[in-house]
Amino acid sequence: MTLGRRAFAHAAAAAAAGALVFRPSNWFPDATVLAQSVALKDIVPKGWLIGAAVNQNQSDGRDGVAVDLITRQFNTISPENALKFQSVHPEPDRFTFDAADRYVAFGRDRGMAVIGHNLVWHSQTPRWAWDGADGALADRATMLARMRTHIATVVGRYKGKIHGWDVVNEALNDDGTLRDSPWRRGIGDDYIAQAFTFAHEADPNVELYYNDFNLATRPAKRAGAIRIVKDLQQRGLRIDAVGEQGHWRLNTPAAGDIDQTIAELRQTGVKVMITELDVNLLPQTGPRVAGQPPSPESNPYANGLPDDMQQALAGYYADAFRVLLKHRDDITRVTFWGVSDADSWLNRGRMNYPLLWDRQRQPKPAFDAVVRVLTAK
Ligand code: G3I
Repeated sequence: MTLGRRAFAHAAAAAAAGALVFRPSNWFPDATVLAQSVALKDIVPKGWLIGAAVNQNQSDGRDGVAVDLITRQFNTISPENALKFQSVHPEPDRFTFDAADRYVAFGRDRGMAVIGHNLVWHSQTPRWAWDGADGALADRATMLARMRTHIATVVGRYKGKIHGWDVVNEALNDDGTLRDSPWRRGIGDDYIAQAFTFAHEADPNVELYYNDFNLATRPAKRAGAIRIVKDLQQRGLRIDAVGEQGHWRLNTPAAGDIDQTIAELRQTGVKVMITELDVNLLPQTGPRVAGQPPSPESNPYANGLPDDMQQALAGYYADAFRVLLKHRDDITRVTFWGVSDADSWLNRGRMNYPLLWDRQRQPKPAFDAVVRVLTAK
């Protein structure tokens, strides 16, 4: 496998920094050795943030191998769960910031851009946030007050320490209409604008994002996201970027769809981020029966990923990154949703292979492919 001269130069620079000892036997290192020596954060376009979502074993420092990988490879982190509403605000008068504080310190200790995910979502939010009397939904004023307290407290705590917040997460249906979230039912369609207002009040300097999935595969949903951005802009509110989560499947979205998505979102004037990138290799199946093992058809790579699939994954990542590079000035951040295949939420009882590092935390052909794209002339 041949790698570009720039990759080689980066490897040499890394070696000079002590990351890789050049001996005659590895003077022409194979792709894996070379890949281990290259850090994504050193080869992305100037100004890009590149990162991963970290889980609590990682941000608490218990998973040392992953911690080393994160430290070496990335210049930004996102919290997989630590900053969600239910994690930090389980009861009306009780905030639980221990794990979140360690997450923020983990990133700041390493000089990383620390991302906040997320403030307002229909999921991983405790019932009390929405409950009114007798099982009914709370009224608008009550729900707005709860939202404002939550945002003011959480954003305020990390003022100046968090680089940007996913203010509202997944507010859209696939057809572009607003999702019937309890926040929307209680407050009205302007709950999105209210959340952005509260976040800006709490930290006027922090970046504010709208984050959702399927924007690249569903043009109608993408149009909905664009309507949200324009509505915020018309109200004079701050919005810095839209996050397309990037929970993609092999060859879906196609490179052309990614290209078009970035171009269309960018026309609003805000930047674009890929915020939760992974590539699902497993067939779509219905829900598993609790307590039952997955069927062999739903779990085809239980004993390992065949080489042709490794190569297909590498090819898809390469195509995707070529498009992202084409839009280097439109994009501010690319974040993988997890570090290695062992950490991914996409396993859920099956064996999935969506990321750039394998279960042993070794770089996969997909990593080499991304490095090649990022270092090609
Ligand atoms: O922490 C508990 C643990 O105490 C308990 O024993 C265990 C039993 O199920 O559950 C643990 O909580 C799980 C939590 O992840 C931490 O591992 C929850 O069940 C599980 O539902 C939760 O899943 C998270 C999911 O969001 C929830 O919707 C995933 O880790 C996380 O990767 C995923 O992330 C979301 C983004 O926030 C938004 N976009 C989609 C993305 C993928 O679903």
